[in-house]
Formats: sequence, structure tokens, C-alpha cells
Amino acid sequence: MNSNDASFLVLFLAPVREYLADDKVSEILINGPNQIYIERGGKLELTSAAFASEAQLKAAAVNIAKSVDRQLDDMHPDLDARLPDGSRVHATIPPISRCGTIISIRKFKKDMLTLAKLEGFGSVPHDGVLLLNAIVKLRKNTIVSGGTSSGKTSVLNALSGLIPEKDRILVLEDASELQLQQQHCVYFETRKPDKHGEGEFTIRDLVIASLRLRPDRLVIGEIRGGEALDLLQAMNTGHSGSMSTIHANTPIDALSRMETCAIMSGVEMPLSAIRMQVASAINCVVHTMRLPDGSRKIVRISEVMPLENSEYRMRDLMYWKTDSLAPDGTLTGHFALGEKPSFFADAGIMGIELPDYGG
Ligand SMILES: Nc1ncnc2c1ncn2[C@@H]1O[C@H](COP(=O)(O)OP(=O)(O)OP(=O)(O)O)[C@@H](O)[C@H]1O
Ligand SMILES: [Mg+2]
Repeated sequence: MNSNDASFLVLFLAPVREYLADDKVSEILINGPNQIYIERGGKLELTSAAFASEAQLKAAAVNIAKSVDRQLDDMHPDLDARLPDGSRVHATIPPISRCGTIISIRKFKKDMLTLAKLEGFGSVPHDGVLLLNAIVKLRKNTIVSGGTSSGKTSVLNALSGLIPEKDRILVLEDASELQLQQQHCVYFETRKPDKHGEGEFTIRDLVIASLRLRPDRLVIGEIRGGEALDLLQAMNTGHSGSMSTIHANTPIDALSRMETCAIMSGVEMPLSAIRMQVASAINCVVHTMRLPDGSRKIVRISEVMPLENSEYRMRDLMYWKTDSLAPDGTLTGHFALGEKPSFFADAGIMGIELPDYGG
């Protein structure tokens, strides 16, 4: 099978063929045979498409699983897979899902978004681009946070584009999505256990293994568990300028989530010590959000300050403020600069341009 050929997907999923072919559709969400949503232009739409029966839909899901050499049956009712064309498919079958077979497809974007494109969409202002450039060039460890499908991976990919060519970059992911522009990138992907439950290679295994491969910077797709502790340690010990994403509702929440994930490593460590590691390892949090009008934006760029009374403190360098939201969903608002970054002087010394913070 040609690696760019998704024709088998079209074959199994004939009822949604039109949406698979439409580049404006980014996601297809199948909730049982008779309810199919798509995401187009950042908004969810209910379609009139339907599968002939639950049996046909389930057969499609099972065939997708087979095509990537995985199982989807009573004992394995859940599939998370990346197809040869790069699309991500998640499927769940009854009785785990209660309204028939569920399939969600995140279509592979041939062109990942760049910062210039994000600026063009109004997802980040020019001042924000200057800030992000300084953050990456000054090797600040950065976490991109946000809710589901808020644009975290896209922003991580765009940020990675600012890493200088001289750095050796190791890219570690659960399911490969990132496409860096630099030549000196080495890509790794986790492996699920086989049908005997063996051979699993987790993101944590990858972080540990990668540190022996002389990375200048680590770019990790997403932090979900105990690998957080290994990443924090790497960030604190010579791999500055590393970056990742985490699912969180606010920048402060991103730090708390890192803490919770670090605890999941099972390494016995007092909470105060973990908190100190988080506060010293992570320098900046870039927060993404999908707004009610369907647009995705970088709504906050924050700097992590030293702990105060064992509590996290952050300084907002730039933020989005919504001014009004009309009943028809039209949204108005503006980006504003917050406080001056602590690295303002360092950027000046290095000749890196920053927004005009006055004074
Ligand atoms: N600023 C943007 N403007 C328009 N579309 C965007 C923007 N950012 C991301 N997208 C699109 O939104 C979808 C989700 O983006 P992305 O995968 O980056 O989100 P995510 O937060 O990483 O999602 P997940 O929670 O599933 O990991 C993709 O189709 C992507 O191309
Ligand atoms: Mg993502």
C-alpha cells in the first residue's frame, strides 16, 4: 500500500467519502450509524450521511483495525491508530460505546501550520510571534496547553520551526503528527503492546532512551503520564529549549497537570520537590483555545515565576481579551501585551527583537 494512499479508508467508509475528500473538513465524528458530524472551519456540523446499518459500520471499524494489523473485538473494544496517510482514527465498539460503533477521524493535514499562517489567521498577533521567537531562541522550556482540539499540536509544530538549524532535535510522539522543517531531526514513535500484551514501548521509555542520543532539544508530542518527571529532569539538566503539549484549561492548570503526571511516574518524591522541579524546569506556557466562533487562538503567553509560599506564580506576557459575543456567534476581541518578560534584557543582548513594552 502506498503510504499516501488512503483509498482503503474510502472503501470502508464509503458513506463519508465526500468528507474524506474535502480538504476543508478536518474531523469526521461518527456516533453510531445514523449520526455523523464533521468539523469544517472550526465548527461542528451534523451531516445527513448515514451507514446502512450498525453491522456495516462495525465491519468498517474492524477492517480499519485489520488494515493496521490491530484487533478490534470484544476483548479489545477500543482502537487508537494512525493510518498510512497520517490520519488518526479512534474507534470504540459496543457495549463500551452505548450508541453503536463510534469512529472519530482526525484527517492528516498535508501542510502543518506555520507561525506566519497562524498570524495570517489572526490566531496570534505579530507581537506574539516576536515573543514566541524570543522564547525559542533563548531556549526557554515551553509547554503548549489547551483543551481538546484547541490547536496545541499545531502550535507546537509552528514553535519548533523557530529552533535554529544547528540544534539536534529529537521528536518523540505517541502517534506521529509533527513535521519539523529542520534537517537534523530524529523521529521516534511509541509502540503499543502486541496481542500477547508484549513489546510495548511507552513515551516514558522513549524519553529515557532519547537522553542517551545526545539531544540538544526534545520535542515531545504530548505529556499524559509519568514521562513528565523524566522530561522535567531533562529540562533541568542541559536540554533547555525543550517543548511539549499538555491538556489543561489554563496556564496554571498546565503546571498542576505536569505535577499530577510527574506523580504518576511512581517515583517517590515529596510534592514540594516535584512542584519545585515544575516551577524551575518550565519557563513558559503558551495557551491555546477554540473560541465560540470556531476560531483557534493563542490566548495567553505566560512566563513561570519562582514559587511563592509553595504556590505557582505566572506572569502574562500577552493575552487575548474577548470584548463581545453576539447571539449569532460573532466574536470581537483583541490581543494585549501584559507584563514585560524577565528575559527582556537577555533578548536585547542577543539582538532578538521583542514587542515594545514601553518604559
Ligand atoms: N489557529 C488555527 N486556525 C485554524 N485551524 C487550526 C488552528 N490550529 C489548529 N487548527 C486545526 O484544528 C485541528 C486541531 O488542531 P491540533 O491537532 O493542533 O489540536 P490539539 O489541541 O493538538 O488536539 P488534540 O487535543 O486532539 O491533541 C487541526 O485540524 C488543525 O489543523
Ligand atoms: Mg494534539
